[in-house]
Amino acid sequence: MRILVTGGAGFIGSHVTDRYLALGHEVAVLDNLSTGKRENLNPQARFYEVDLTEPDCVRKVVQEFRPHIINHHAAQASVALSVQQPLADAESNISGMINLLEAAREKGVRRVIYSSTGGAIYGATDHLPTPETHPTNPLSPYGCSKLCGEEYLKTWHRLYGLQYVIFRYGNVYGPRQDAHGEAGVVAIFGRLMLEGKQPTIFGRGHKTRDYVYVCDVAEANALALSGPANDTFNLATGSQTTDQQVFDTVAAATGYAGPPIYGPERLGDLQHSCLDITKAREILGWAPQVSFAEGVARTVAYLREQAEEQHPEAISDPP
Ligand SMILES: NC(=O)c1ccc[n+]([C@@H]2O[C@H](COP(=O)([O-])OP(=O)(O)OC[C@H]3O[C@@H](n4cnc5c(N)ncnc54)[C@H](O)[C@@H]3O)[C@@H](O)[C@H]2O)c1
Repeated sequence: MRILVTGGAGFIGSHVTDRYLALGHEVAVLDNLSTGKRENLNPQARFYEVDLTEPDCVRKVVQEFRPHIINHHAAQASVALSVQQPLADAESNISGMINLLEAAREKGVRRVIYSSTGGAIYGATDHLPTPETHPTNPLSPYGCSKLCGEEYLKTWHRLYGLQYVIFRYGNVYGPRQDAHGEAGVVAIFGRLMLEGKQPTIFGRGHKTRDYVYVCDVAEANALALSGPANDTFNLATGSQTTDQQVFDTVAAATGYAGPPIYGPERLGDLQHSCLDITKAREILGWAPQVSFAEGVARTVAYLREQAEEQHPEAISDPP
């Protein structure tokens, strides 16, 4: 199959690209390298350095590569940035989606697989783990634009018969996640601890998230290439991990012995987020395979390798 992966130079999209190539598919990546990195690009994939907000360029890529399937991971993915610049967020996540859908319709693409989000879409709720049927209450322009993308995709299905699979991710973590960003706590804590710096937990460590390892997410994207379509699935683990547990697990993997700094809570942070994955289990036959401790160990091993390449003298030995 020919598959166009948007955002394939980014964290999750690059793992999805790797998985598709390993399965023997022909893959092209569309990415503007705004947060994506050239070193994440799989050399076996054709690369188009294109911005989704440019309709003619997007159309040209789809016309030239003729994908059967588009896997859409490109997005403005920062909640903070979406609050500061809601229009720029909407341009990437809504106008970009429309440009992609129009190109898909014109060139007869069969299916679009779309990476959406759980926590940012469901908002604050006591209904944990949260099922796909829960009302959507986005708390940020980012959550709103990702939800809007879902609705455009469903509308193109109703209008033109374009198939879709929507994935609402929990907190995805793993190698290649930006360790200098605002989100991605496993990567951030891991980098700081390897540098011997003290990480900050915002609050007392009781907030919870549902962490899913990136290769498990890539596997679901592989299952979505064929089989059931026109449906929405949570992808997570269905279990909650506290900030304190994240700190302790990353500390064990890095050998960091100090305590965290407990800082003030951040305005707008959800207290708890956890997704019900029954539907993905039953309909897709998908289940996460990598435990949190194992995923953290793999992520730390990657961060250690990266750090050793850059600053061989600054890294402590594994525990
Ligand atoms: N990381 C998570 O935990 C998580 C959770 C829920 C949903 N998601 C979704 O998964 C997707 C990938 O997220 P990620 O964490 O890998 O982020 P990322 O920033 O690493 O990847 C996004 C990629 O999209 C590219 N991009 C951004 N705007 C673009 C544009 N206008 N045109 C072309 N390329 C553009 C970036 O260069 C980058 O390579 C996003 O759609 C995000 O909303 C991520």
